[in-house]
Amino acid sequence: MPKVLVATVKPFAPMAVSEIKNVLDLAGYEMELLEKYAGQDDLIQAVKDADAVIIRSDIIDEAVISAMEKTKIIVRAGAGYDNVDLAAASAKNIVVMNTPGQNSNAVAELVVGMMVFLARNQYNGTSGTELRNKTLGLHAYGNVGKYVAQIARGFGMELYAYDPFIDQKLIEDDGIMALDSLEELYSKCQYVSLHIPANEQTKQSINYSLLSLMPKNATLVNAARKEVIHEDDLIKIFAARDDFKYISDIAPDCKEEIINKYPGRFFFTPKKMGAQTAEANINAGIASAKQIVNYLEKGDNTYQVN
Ligand code: 3PG
Repeated sequence: MPKVLVATVKPFAPMAVSEIKNVLDLAGYEMELLEKYAGQDDLIQAVKDADAVIIRSDIIDEAVISAMEKTKIIVRAGAGYDNVDLAAASAKNIVVMNTPGQNSNAVAELVVGMMVFLARNQYNGTSGTELRNKTLGLHAYGNVGKYVAQIARGFGMELYAYDPFIDQKLIEDDGIMALDSLEELYSKCQYVSLHIPANEQTKQSINYSLLSLMPKNATLVNAARKEVIHEDDLIKIFAARDDFKYISDIAPDCKEEIINKYPGRFFFTPKKMGAQTAEANINAGIASAKQIVNYLEKGDNTYQVN
């Protein structure tokens, strides 16, 4: 009986775990649950006899992959797979997949919710601002960007996007102005929301020269990855412009300096929680379990990323 390890240091909603188990039971697979584990050693022990592994942002580095004795597939229940050492997995012929789109609405709702929260001065009773008629730039137009656009349209925002990997016509078909350069996006938009992955091209790419292009009363929104921000430049823009605000679902390493020096101009969630809804957990969890069964039974490698 194939064994599937669900290893989530940040647990799924309980309903998602039972839905994953249902899918695996039907296939005649066994499920082992490792939640809130204390460190990599626990993960290393647990993966040893797993045929398949479901993870979230859990770090699957070379040490974890070397410990896998039987594993054929790892599914990241979510979009970003920068937490998995793809080269080490490929070297052991382990397939790595993600579950694109399954948790995107949850992230998008958090993005817009955080924008309202900061625009209204964190609900402190003072006079804030509205989102209506403000310009919103989507830095990348993937699954999350699309949902953010749909919600923001309901708020009456003016929408722009820059994504060199997507045909501009597809963006414009959704009623969004597709721009030709990042510089144009940052120059036009009072709000810029990041939806890029963290990779060699994007790490530290959000820098002073881009941020300084933003119009007056600028807010940068990051529900993507901490690593895409150039943190020295983030501090520099906070110091240079008292109209600059930053909202993030993944607090920067330099958060203490921002908290101490720039009160009221930032909001950081205490823990990455964009995808932390029952619905997102259920959707991504079920998709992960089904992808494992389909791969092991039929060799279906849709959503393979390595
Ligand atoms: C993703 O890449 O899907 C999101 O960042 C969610 O990550 P999480 O599953 O760790 O909450």
